[in-house]
Amino acid sequence: MPKPAYHIFVCTNTRPPGHPRGSCGENNAMAIMEKFGMGIEKRMLFGKALLSNTGCMGPCSTGPVVVVYPDGVWYKGVQPDDVDEILDSHIVNGKKVERLEIPAEMWG
Ligand code: FES
Repeated sequence: MPKPAYHIFVCTNTRPPGHPRGSCGENNAMAIMEKFGMGIEKRMLFGKALLSNTGCMGPCSTGPVVVVYPDGVWYKGVQPDDVDEILDSHIVNGKKVERLEIPAEMWG
């Protein structure tokens, strides 16, 4: 297996409905995971992009959260309709999707 150029992490952590922190799982995270999987397959990105689901990564209120390494780009509020743009712009062409990036000022 070649070393992947990109590793895409999708938070799929789920908390019970009404939990004060909310969760990515409550907001379509599994559909996002599925769409990434299908998109990677459709674009034949095996070997270039590795996809993993994760537990909570912290900024739950901005979820669903997707992180792309090695670039260290954190995406917020990702929905299934955003997945094709992330794959085409970031993974295929190396250009992050700025409109979805968690703003620098959000980090303490
Ligand atoms: S539940 Fe996804 S970042 Fe916390």
